[in-house]
Amino acid sequence: MKIYDAIIIGAGIAGLNAAAKFPKDKNVLVICKDNSWDCNTFYAQGGVAVPYDEEDIPLHIEDTMTAGGSLCDREAVEVLCRDGRVAVDDLIDRGFAFDKDDEGKLHYTKEAAHSKNRILHAGGDATGRCMHHFLMRENIHGLLYNSTVTDLLLEDDVCHGVRVYHKGEFRNYYAKATIIASGGVGSIYKYHTNARTISGEMQGLVLEKGCKLRDMEMMQFHPTVFIHNMGARKQLLTEALRGEGAWIVDDDGKRFLFEYDKRGPLSPRNIVSSSIFDWKKRTGLQTYLTFQNFEERFFQRRFPTIHSTMKDLGFRLPFDEVPISPAFHYAMGGIETDINGKLPNMQNLYAIGEVANTRVHGANRLASNSLLEGLVFSKRAVEEIAKQNFNFEIKIFTEEEEVLVKEGDKAIKNELRELMWENAGIMREVSKLELTLKRINEMLSGDIGKLLRLRLKTSRNIVESAIYRKESLGAHYLIK
Ligand code: SIN
Repeated sequence: MKIYDAIIIGAGIAGLNAAAKFPKDKNVLVICKDNSWDCNTFYAQGGVAVPYDEEDIPLHIEDTMTAGGSLCDREAVEVLCRDGRVAVDDLIDRGFAFDKDDEGKLHYTKEAAHSKNRILHAGGDATGRCMHHFLMRENIHGLLYNSTVTDLLLEDDVCHGVRVYHKGEFRNYYAKATIIASGGVGSIYKYHTNARTISGEMQGLVLEKGCKLRDMEMMQFHPTVFIHNMGARKQLLTEALRGEGAWIVDDDGKRFLFEYDKRGPLSPRNIVSSSIFDWKKRTGLQTYLTFQNFEERFFQRRFPTIHSTMKDLGFRLPFDEVPISPAFHYAMGGIETDINGKLPNMQNLYAIGEVANTRVHGANRLASNSLLEGLVFSKRAVEEIAKQNFNFEIKIFTEEEEVLVKEGDKAIKNELRELMWENAGIMREVSKLELTLKRINEMLSGDIGKLLRLRLKTSRNIVESAIYRKESLGAHYLIK
């Protein structure tokens, strides 16, 4: 029987960078639910936030802490920003090419709530895609595609590996360390910007294993999303557009955001999202992103992906205005870990990236801090694994797996998405959260498949956490 040194669940930036950090002679397996590019990293547009230089580190820390409010852990934020510069320089040394300005220097752009230009980008607005290609090209370890992790092989709080469903059969994969890097919860919401594979199942699985999720009420909604395209993933319009001069207006051309915050379109993401949501509700007007400050050639060069995607959807940018809505984008809450990605009271089990909660983002993630998080905490987890000296004998697990999907699951999933969007979305009311909790419990008591059960348990945790937090904070906005 083969025993891996490490199994990594997920091939986004956190998973692939973790794989890259293992020495070449280690046996590492990366498991992807579908294709490797079906991850949130691939769709990240804006870029990677990174301290511009040594002097900028304290400022980046303060911007992150301010956006995240009282829920940030200062130690985690300090790690992110101090190690962040090193991690990005390491990526550049490994050959990754960020975009440069006309003088050949790295081009730093601005995004909301950053007090200076510190966002590096690649391929214009295709930062995530470029990084994913790079990390995939660099990867020397095994990749298992089209494989759903259905269980963690745990005994006495020691993880021995995972059970996987692949091509119609279940198989156990054993490892000395298991790293969960499976991303957030996008498919739980009706409107979202996430890859379609991202559905919160791993969070539900760790709950069933007795581990904790933390800060699950903290769900981030991106303010500028075109939600009328086909398909589950809605079209993101990066913050960098506003950083470089795009406006948000209503049908009357009014820049209404200034009525909510003097920073207008460059206010923190939670404020822009809730203001758009509120303005639409109060006035009945539509809201738009407009690009009148852009020259066509510049726009096409700087935002080529948005230019061509929106063209396919019938928009000629920068001339047309695009109707926008907030949509679910990122889970700040996740599997509770320490600042090395280790799950408390567990041996050999780690979580990194969006699926994890180190409290680095607190109640509201600062724009473009997530790719940085993936780079920084993946490296720390691998270093932590190398330090562990835990001797154990691999146990063989022989239990039968449950039925993963049952006939009525799809209809329940659709109802769940609608409920979560309406009642556990941008603005929340306790009475509606309580009704949602009741309905989720009813769904859980029905004859459903295991994967839906896990998704429902994650959703229930989001709703329970939202009921538990009595005051608005960051992304958790309560209407009283
Ligand atoms: C964006 O490009 O606006 C998204 C960046 C992020 O989520 O950090």
